[in-house]
Amino acid sequence: MNKNLIQFIIEEERHIPGATGDFTDLLGDITIACKKIAHAVNKGALIGVLGSAGSENIQGETQKKLDVITNDIFIAENEWGGHLAAMASEEMDEIYPIPAKYPKGKYLLTFDPLDGSSNIDVNISVGTIFSILRCPEGVTNPTAADFMQPGTKQVCAGYALYGPSTMLVITTGNGVNGFTLDNDIGEFMLTHPKMMIPADTQEFAINMSNRRYWEEPVQRYVEECVKGKDGGREKNFNMRWVASMVAEVHRILTRGGIFMYPFDTKEPGKAGKLRLMYEANPMSFIVEQAGGMCSTGRERIMELQPNGLHQRVPVILGSKNEVERVVGYHKGA
Ligand code: AHG
Ligand code: MN
Ligand code: MN
Repeated sequence: MNKNLIQFIIEEERHIPGATGDFTDLLGDITIACKKIAHAVNKGALIGVLGSAGSENIQGETQKKLDVITNDIFIAENEWGGHLAAMASEEMDEIYPIPAKYPKGKYLLTFDPLDGSSNIDVNISVGTIFSILRCPEGVTNPTAADFMQPGTKQVCAGYALYGPSTMLVITTGNGVNGFTLDNDIGEFMLTHPKMMIPADTQEFAINMSNRRYWEEPVQRYVEECVKGKDGGREKNFNMRWVASMVAEVHRILTRGGIFMYPFDTKEPGKAGKLRLMYEANPMSFIVEQAGGMCSTGRERIMELQPNGLHQRVPVILGSKNEVERVVGYHKGA
């Protein structure tokens, strides 16, 4: 019989000396948040949640109604439990300290409540991404500075994918496991144990409309993929672009591939599009734990010292041999 997510985590926790069960409870709360988001996303137009909220987030992006609703769900499910000291989200300018009426805990949580939200109105897969850090020792009222920990310090990272099935994929640094929501019993069941990314791939994902803004190494790599056997490569490539990072990473975890949102000069002053603290770092932790590789082109993403909650970074991730090739082109450039 398949294990459910909480059973799986409790059994993992038994191998960790001194574990208090705090982390298991936190993951339980996150799981409930993801189930509620799955429900809202699934009901869609039936409950009037599609369309724009008429507001902008700190990144100057127009918020969808569901960006705001899913952010509220994530906060409500995670603020009361006593496991967190503070949260940070794509949709909030500043960190969210745990209100005084609730006990404070030893973890920090960052999240992108709805990733790929431009897809929501057209009924294409979206997701939620989260990352758990430890609150620094002795800190009871964390500030944004306490979140500025490199990705290598993550205790856990995960994403929920709201697609044909709802899935939750997590890592605690001991491989990657995928769970599918069984709507009949309301539980995430272990369906994808020990997910591994094949080292080789013939599939790449990049927003080609930004081509003229890329740097030379990325131009070269994509050009070679497009030319395939007629160029320098020994194989032909296929291309995908969902515009939901969660869906792209899930595809890569399932059958391999390379995903790039590289440095570009489209908007000077922005180092890339994706955000380090709640997109690039958690996805890097998952991808590396599944045998893949993640880089800005020049540095390992998880080793970057963050300098802001909403910092952007170039992202090149996926099948190891292809990411290594792109990194090699950057070194040569
Ligand atoms: P978000 O909806 O959280 O702002 O993230 C969207 C991100 C990512 O999921 C996706 O890969 C990328 O933006 C899509 O960008 P384009 O619109 O340039 O295709
Ligand atoms: Mn996102
Ligand atoms: Mn988002």
